[in-house]
Amino acid sequence: MKAKKFYCSFQFIVFYYVLLQPPFVCSKNHGNAANDLLDIINNNRTSQKLNKLSGSPGLGCIALQYAQECKGNCSSNNTIHCQPSEDDFTEVFAPNCGVELPTFGTISGFILGCHQKYLQPPEAYSNVLVQDQKTISLLRNKTITEVGVGIIGSHKHKGPYIWCLLFSNSQTNSTFVLENLGKGIEQKRGCYSGTSLPCSAGHKSSGLILNTLILLLLIYSLSLLFQHC
Ligand SMILES: *[C@@H]1O[C@H](CO)[C@@H](O)[C@H](O)[C@H]1NC(C)=O
Ligand SMILES: *[C@@H]1O[C@H](CO)[C@@H](O)[C@H](O)[C@H]1NC(C)=O
Ligand SMILES: *[C@@H]1O[C@H](CO)[C@@H](O)[C@H](O)[C@H]1NC(C)=O
Ligand SMILES: *[C@@H]1O[C@H](CO)[C@@H](O)[C@H](O)[C@H]1NC(C)=O
Ligand SMILES: *[C@@H]1O[C@H](CO)[C@@H](O)[C@H](O)[C@H]1NC(C)=O
Repeated sequence: MKAKKFYCSFQFIVFYYVLLQPPFVCSKNHGNAANDLLDIINNNRTSQKLNKLSGSPGLGCIALQYAQECKGNCSSNNTIHCQPSEDDFTEVFAPNCGVELPTFGTISGFILGCHQKYLQPPEAYSNVLVQDQKTISLLRNKTITEVGVGIIGSHKHKGPYIWCLLFSNSQTNSTFVLENLGKGIEQKRGCYSGTSLPCSAGHKSSGLILNTLILLLLIYSLSLLFQHC
């Protein structure tokens, strides 16, 4: 009798443990961290009476591609040196995103940073992206009009995380235009600014398997619960 009681409460513990787990998918951020970072940049700019930057999704996707190419280049002390060739932008990144090539504008600056752990956007802004006088003056540049933010983890759900910002001073609406009525080509991993797609978009499949396993465990626990209690 005692053993049974113990067994039943054990079932309840499993049951509650599983239920109370935060969702595995998108546990890091509920929305899109790239958009959050864009807001931080713009709040900072407007507090200094500078123009707001528009978050071009085409440029954001190219920033994500840039970050992706630099995935293996984050050192253990969170420094990164990685400069893809100029040809990669038009021959690899733009086609992978579905950016219409004739609309490819000028990229006038970039900031690349990385960290072994996932940082929330405000921490990433001050600890990863604002690195030196050069990056500060770029963030405050008066002539830039748009920015693209791309974020990717090197391994699924694991760091190091690469943050990439690309700046442009091109005409906002007519450059880095995404084909397919602005949808472009869906990216499997990471996320970028200027879209409402969440950062977890690329983690769906692994999340699905995990959630299915949890569901099975839940059903199994419940069946035991009703059998014995
Ligand atoms: C804006 O960013 C700079 C670094 O670029 C930082 O020193 C400053 O505190 C920020 N200001 C606001 C209002 O967030
Ligand atoms: C960080 O690591 C890189 C290579 O691992 C090294 O070249 C660089 O000097 C280190 N920087 C600092 C600040 O320790
Ligand atoms: C990344 O780092 C490797 C090794 O240091 C280097 O050979 C490669 O050129 C770097 N990638 C880019 C795109 O700079
Ligand atoms: C701002 O960026 C432009 C290129 O877009 C550059 O020519 C200019 O020197 C920069 N200005 C400052 C103050 O850094
Ligand atoms: C960009 O396009 C939107 C609508 O498509 C329009 O509302 C906005 O004024 C345009 N901005 C510029 C700078 O042309």
